[in-house]
Amino acid sequence: MELDLTRPNNGRMLDYWLGGNHNFEIDRQMARQIEKLFPFVVTTSRESRALVGRCVEFFHAQNLGTLVDFGSSLPTCQNTHEVAHALDPNIRVVYSDIDPITVAYAQDLLRGNVNVLYLHADATNPQDVLENPLTKQLIGDEHRVGIVFLNLPHVLSDEAVRASWRALYDWAAPGSYLALSFSGEAWDTEPDLIATARSYRSANLPFYPRTPAQVLELVGGWRVTQDGFKPNASWGQSNPPPQERMLGYSAMFYK
Ligand SMILES: C[S@@+](CC[C@H](N)C(=O)[O-])C[C@H]1O[C@@H](n2cnc3c(N)ncnc32)[C@H](O)[C@@H]1O
Repeated sequence: MELDLTRPNNGRMLDYWLGGNHNFEIDRQMARQIEKLFPFVVTTSRESRALVGRCVEFFHAQNLGTLVDFGSSLPTCQNTHEVAHALDPNIRVVYSDIDPITVAYAQDLLRGNVNVLYLHADATNPQDVLENPLTKQLIGDEHRVGIVFLNLPHVLSDEAVRASWRALYDWAAPGSYLALSFSGEAWDTEPDLIATARSYRSANLPFYPRTPAQVLELVGGWRVTQDGFKPNASWGQSNPPPQERMLGYSAMFYK
């Protein structure tokens, strides 16, 4: 793959924040600038990646052998297939992302991995992943799946997530699970977070914090598991770390 090293890439910047080695100087420079503007970015990225891992462990405990991951970023730094394959190398993983550079780089990294697919797709049209011939080739008729939809809903409008989660519900077989995470209402009530949210929006970055009640209204037929909504750093932890404040929270849903 030809790499354009004159422009930073989101996936490689996230890899840098996660402590990975799939990033270049141009990515690190931009990542450091972003950190100055949005100091939460390193903590929230790391909490989210650890959450991905705990969700994959949960899926494995439910005996799910097929995982579908939206807004995946690079398949590095303990992303879904790495955690899954440490548990069972036969687990099949379908990754997807809207960013074509991230997708091309990811496909290069995954070359030769027969149980992993990486598609270029918009998570607001999950059918593009679910109905893709390569997905069908990898997972066959298996629709009982674990769905990873983490660190992504906050950039999608209500209309977009409602339609996406509905399409996933209609496609998924009973016994499927959907892992979601959100930016919480602290972003609408705490002065420094309000200022940060304002700067996201003035930089034309979409940003949609939501309350659990709003999420429950948007998620359609999916039902929340008895653990309910938890801060990202606490979900799936038997000894959750002390929480400073709830920047983001998560929940597991089932059909
Ligand atoms: C912060 S990363 C999350 C990575 C991983 N899921 C995690 O939690 O660590 C968000 C990713 O979502 C992708 N993304 C943003 N909008 C998207 C959309 N509409 N459809 C698919 N991917 C999208 C971005 O390109 C980015 O790679």
